[in-house]
Amino acid sequence: MIQFSATSLICLNIIFFSGGKTVLGNVRHCSTKGTSNGRVVETTPKTTEENTPTDISKQKEQCLVPCDVQAKMLRGEKHYMCRNLQNSLVEYARSTKKLVRNMMDDQQSSLDYLSNQVNELMNRVLLLNAEVLRKHLDPLPYRAVQSHGLDCTDIKDTIGSVSKTPSGLYIIHPEGSNYAYEVLCDMDFKGGGWTVIQKRTDGIIDFQRNWSEYLDGFGDLSGDFWLGLRKVFHIVNQKTTSFMLYVGLESEDDTYAYASYDSFWLEDEACSFKIHFGRYSGNAGDAFRGYSKEDNQYAMPFSTFDVDNDGCNPVCSIQEQPVKSCSNFSDNTGWWFNQCGLANLNGVHRFTGKFLATGIHWDTWTENNKPVRIKSVSMKIRRTYNPYFK
Ligand SMILES: *[C@@H]1O[C@H](CO)[C@@H](O)[C@H](O)[C@H]1NC(C)=O
Ligand SMILES: *[C@@H]1O[C@H](CO)[C@@H](O)[C@H](O)[C@H]1NC(C)=O
Repeated sequence: MIQFSATSLICLNIIFFSGGKTVLGNVRHCSTKGTSNGRVVETTPKTTEENTPTDISKQKEQCLVPCDVQAKMLRGEKHYMCRNLQNSLVEYARSTKKLVRNMMDDQQSSLDYLSNQVNELMNRVLLLNAEVLRKHLDPLPYRAVQSHGLDCTDIKDTIGSVSKTPSGLYIIHPEGSNYAYEVLCDMDFKGGGWTVIQKRTDGIIDFQRNWSEYLDGFGDLSGDFWLGLRKVFHIVNQKTTSFMLYVGLESEDDTYAYASYDSFWLEDEACSFKIHFGRYSGNAGDAFRGYSKEDNQYAMPFSTFDVDNDGCNPVCSIQEQPVKSCSNFSDNTGWWFNQCGLANLNGVHRFTGKFLATGIHWDTWTENNKPVRIKSVSMKIRRTYNPYFK
């Protein structure tokens, strides 16, 4: 169809853009029909088409007298042809228009698609730029900053002796640490001066983390977080200090219980932050020690799914299941597991409709011989020995 129209267009262009007598002469390039002009006199027009140029000149000489009838016929034929070609032209123009429109539509949608892609890429670049800029501007905790004190107890005892210190975020720089960092200080609870090292409330922060994340900490200090093993280590290993640990628990039924330990400290990174705690007091039970040797997490190193230091080596049996890794058994969360023990305050905690699907364990806190389902928990530490008031 297009092919045909194209051919006609070439002819018609020739017809429309050439004038007068040359027109018909040129038509000969496209078609052998209607090659004669008004001056040609033919006795048998059909055979003329087949004739060679020499024949035509001979016939021209024969037709000295104009043949009115034949000329009329030829003119009629010319008009008919012209109309045909005009129709073809209109048809061709219409289909070309349609074709071009379709092509333009196609191109437009391609352009729209590409421009969307470009916009998306631009957005990503902007986000990345912002991220880079933020990282560049805020290389905490390695920035040299003025700290408020050595830890929250120190801040309370020094600043707090002059004016009331509110609970909130403070920058501390413990002895032995080569950097300062931000911590949440609870200045209201039980006399204040508590450095919060872990908090779980709404379950938004994921605690299924690898070793390096448990090492440096994660989450949001104004929400749920894990402060980080290194940071806790620096706080509790300052000279001439001794810390107590307070574990505060809240059940799904909004009841409260606690477990507190004196002499809380951690061994260093080379010893995988083995946990030490002294005397227990509280009403939630001593889940750290549990009821058996296998439960007892005292002096256990910290474990994550990628760094397995637990008491199941090579394998132990829990609820008649073979367990190779307590972290893996506890949904890839990190803790001072033994085999594996009754405490894991880092267990998976998420809100699923009415109840929290809670994997937060302090299984010595029981009701009707079943562990209480725990909704929120925090771990805080405070100096028990204060060098300023010796
Ligand atoms: C630990 O997890 C973080 C965040 O997913 C990741 O960037 C990092 O590469 C992981 N580290 C290791 C040693 O797998
Ligand atoms: C245990 O580890 C495997 C492999 O890393 C993982 O696919 C699986 O989800 C883990 N199990 C739990 C309970 O997290």
